[in-house]
Amino acid sequence: MSVLEIKTAGEPVLKQIAAPVRKIDKRIKKLLDDMAETMYATDGVGIAAPQVGVSLRIIVVDVENKRYDIINPEIIWREGSAIDTEGCLSCPDLFGDVERAEKIKLRYVTRYHKVKEIEAEGLLARCIQHEVDHLDGRLFIDIAQNIRKGNPPQRERQVK
Ligand code: CO
Repeated sequence: MSVLEIKTAGEPVLKQIAAPVRKIDKRIKKLLDDMAETMYATDGVGIAAPQVGVSLRIIVVDVENKRYDIINPEIIWREGSAIDTEGCLSCPDLFGDVERAEKIKLRYVTRYHKVKEIEAEGLLARCIQHEVDHLDGRLFIDIAQNIRKGNPPQRERQVK
């Protein structure tokens, strides 16, 4: 596994609509593992493939020590709304308040080719919504309020 270079705001790949994964092969599995390693090395709780320069619909999330390797995600249901502070590996030193659905249902494909549906709330739901936005070329700074520099008060609650 290797730690990959993170693309930062201004790189065109972060503005593209990422393409669906058609075949889950060795290359995709290596990408998932490298994305996870990159996320852990940078203290993130989530990472999307465009952030490492790959325009494919893949995200990796780790909330409360459970890692999700998520291919071709679709948010099929949303409920409620919540505002919380977010940051992003691609926008170093910037934070802002983002309104997101409080609960979601996500359908995706696992690395073992299984279609899975999960319900998520709280930080996991927020993180998934942030990462899925990356697949549609949207950064949190495009939708955040009160964008500021520096560290947020509760570092462990950041979404990347
Ligand atoms: Co991000």
